[in-house]
Amino acid sequence: MKAFPQTFYWGGATAANQVEGAFLEDGKGLSTSDVQPHGVFGDVVERMPGDTGLKDIAIDFYHRYPDDIALFAEMGFNCLRVSIAWTRIFPNGDDAEPNEAGLAFYDKLFDEMAKHHITPLVTLSHYEMPWALVKNYGGWGNRKVIGFFERYARTVFERYKGKVKLWLTFNEINMSLHAPMTGVGLPSDSSKAEVYQAIHHQLVASALAVKACHEIVPEGKIGNMLLGGLMYPLSCKPDDVFKTLQENRGWQFFGDVQARGAYPGYMLRYFRDNGFALEMTDADRDALKSTVDFISFSYYMTGCVTADEALNQKARGNILNMVPNPHLESSEWGWQIDPLGLRTLLNVLWDRYQKPLFIVENGLGAKDKVEADGSINDDYRISYLNDHLVQAREAIEDGVELMGFTSWGPIDLVSASKAELSKRYGFIYVDRHDDGTGTLARSKKKSFDWYKEVIATNGASLKA
Ligand code: BG6
Repeated sequence: MKAFPQTFYWGGATAANQVEGAFLEDGKGLSTSDVQPHGVFGDVVERMPGDTGLKDIAIDFYHRYPDDIALFAEMGFNCLRVSIAWTRIFPNGDDAEPNEAGLAFYDKLFDEMAKHHITPLVTLSHYEMPWALVKNYGGWGNRKVIGFFERYARTVFERYKGKVKLWLTFNEINMSLHAPMTGVGLPSDSSKAEVYQAIHHQLVASALAVKACHEIVPEGKIGNMLLGGLMYPLSCKPDDVFKTLQENRGWQFFGDVQARGAYPGYMLRYFRDNGFALEMTDADRDALKSTVDFISFSYYMTGCVTADEALNQKARGNILNMVPNPHLESSEWGWQIDPLGLRTLLNVLWDRYQKPLFIVENGLGAKDKVEADGSINDDYRISYLNDHLVQAREAIEDGVELMGFTSWGPIDLVSASKAELSKRYGFIYVDRHDDGTGTLARSKKKSFDWYKEVIATNGASLKA
């Protein structure tokens, strides 16, 4: 019988800036997320006294985490992905000493998880960095930021080494190509050469964090985190097929460096062909040799690639400029739903890296309706997750080593792309709305009991 391994991590995934709120509490500094109130692709807005934004309170996880973790435990989670807000630890990024109140918050959070036997999976940087590092240093464009990040990583490894054994470096590290402010703290009109230089610094910092983790938490494991942007050729025309190879390399490049320890030849050619003279020292090349223990990724959709410029023009404007697949349905937000694509992606990653894989984000963003009796019948979410988990299990049958599955947003949270609350992912509903109204009360959706059953049966209750 097809099954998930007994050691499988089941749980959910969150990010500090999308759940915590308390954006200036206990000494926290402003982050890039705090100055992007309209989402990760949005413009930077300098904060003025009295300004408010949805993320400032988010879902108030900072104060309500014990109750939320109890609900996750009720669903049977044995893993929860959270991120540490760098700005709670080093409010400006270059501070002489870490902020004790920020460190103490995550101590309490990890202790609470331990009480419920929930293993923390911790992202060092999820779509945010200290805003002061952007203003005063030019973000990741400045090599000095590597050192600031390494110090932050070493500080949290030392502090939490007894409590946290599973780490991730940068969330969706390949997103910098589409959202440079969010990824590397560069303005959106930066040149490709500037963005790649900043990405290079971040890749070096990621590798240094891997090295530090291996030194400080020797029994721990650290992975990278990719946006698994699997692309299909729109047709079997050789031009479309070759362009698809190149598009896929656009994100695989990050995994290639982080898992294989060096820049792939196709990327060096891309830099040569475009006349980019990246500054890459021998020390950088040496640092990159510290490779990740496992590969983690998010998966929401696939897209198509065509060499036909007219068709490409039409597709411009959607999130990753990809051409829609005529064989797939879309979510309310236009994300094309493709469960089999997850099996393909798992196989592609396994064949390429031969390292354990971890699905650290997957889920359906949808509008939920609260019925008169308070119930929320989110069958669409159940069906989305069921179908993806069935394909994950098929991939395990194919021989893929899969560590776990943390669904995105197990509790409703502020969405990343547009900073909305109406786009909900949770098994747990949060009474808060796009206009900021709501009591923040939590309630269980139909999917809550469904996921609980999936976990309790280690996937046997899934409908193939
Ligand atoms: C991933 C991010 O891109 O997708 C998350 O790592 C994000 O932070 C998730 O929330 C879903 O995207 P959105 O825009 O629907 O929140």
